[in-house]
Amino acid sequence: MKDMSKPVILTGLRANNDLTLGNYFGGLLPIVDMAKNKSDEYQINLFVPDLHSFTTPIDHSDLQKQIWNNLRLFVAAGLPLDNDGVHLYRQSYVSAHSELTWVLDCFTGTGEMSRMTEFKDKTAKIGDDRVSVGLFNYPILMASDILLYNATYVPVGDDQSQHLEFTRDIAERMNNKFGELFTVPKAVKEQHAFFGKDQGLRIKDLADPTKKMSKSDESGKGVIFLSEDPEFAAGKIMRAATDDLASINYDSQNQPGISNLIEILALTTGKTKEEIISEWQGKSSYGDFKQAVADAVRAFLTDFQAKLAQVSDEAISTKLETSEAAANDIADATLLRAQKAVGLR
Ligand code: TYM
Repeated sequence: MKDMSKPVILTGLRANNDLTLGNYFGGLLPIVDMAKNKSDEYQINLFVPDLHSFTTPIDHSDLQKQIWNNLRLFVAAGLPLDNDGVHLYRQSYVSAHSELTWVLDCFTGTGEMSRMTEFKDKTAKIGDDRVSVGLFNYPILMASDILLYNATYVPVGDDQSQHLEFTRDIAERMNNKFGELFTVPKAVKEQHAFFGKDQGLRIKDLADPTKKMSKSDESGKGVIFLSEDPEFAAGKIMRAATDDLASINYDSQNQPGISNLIEILALTTGKTKEEIISEWQGKSSYGDFKQAVADAVRAFLTDFQAKLAQVSDEAISTKLETSEAAANDIADATLLRAQKAVGLR
């Protein structure tokens, strides 16, 4: 029997480095908004996928610190801890994630995993001997994260859409073979509609706006981190790569740098992209425009970091304790259905 309680909205943010503006607006803010406004209708699950945090190499002596940094960032972003309709947990504290992954591994083709963009890109860049089996397997663990809690909506940035599609595929495949086992999350298009967007968000790197802003970027020159000095971050905006067309337009194809800054200005001021475009369209001074974006980013980070300083670790610990107990109960129930289906129980 499936859990017939409230539909579930769930997401996770890895702890492999400080979070970026992309992480904040792509994954964190949408779920925090839901937690603040929709928790009477939906169960909200936000977790740290700590097992996913070292699919690419990290400094392991920093991992605990990073996990806690993420938890604090979630609360600073507005996650309400005093709400029973919100669960906050760490993936590795719920062993069903690893156990379901093994089961799903055995129903997933190696070809299918080899075609995942993230895996292909990394393999092309550093060679397959240096890419871990963990990175290869990553989408299957992510599917387990989602399916264990019967999640319907999964707010993520555009870079995770392919993994979400895989989650739907493996869920449908298992349901076809074994009967109604898993809730199939909504298709990516329906997810966007639910979160009030026309497409997935992809904030670009400031130094190279053809690639996404990524927390694992080695130089960090084009990345705005949530905990970094607001003045330093403003400097990165002022140095952002643009073009020589001397006309501000939203055109991601021909003016990716300027378009990215329009996106960032809209997000950090809470205005719509259309409002920003009508304010700046056709103007020629990139200097003035960058200054406006730099001011907005500085103000955004200053405000966010003031909230971060207020976060109580004790309140987080208390929440983790109750949420992780609840998460284990829910996840174990789904795992047991899967174990029975494949004949393990
Ligand atoms: P991660 O930790 O790389 O990123 C966390 C969230 O941030 C989004 N994101 C972006 N959004 C817009 N522009 C960008 N430049 C940008 N960069 C990152 C990501 O799409 C994501 O929403 N596999 C996931 C973590 C995960 C997960 C899950 C998510 C593990 N299990 C289950 C949802 C459900 C990841 O690596 O995200």
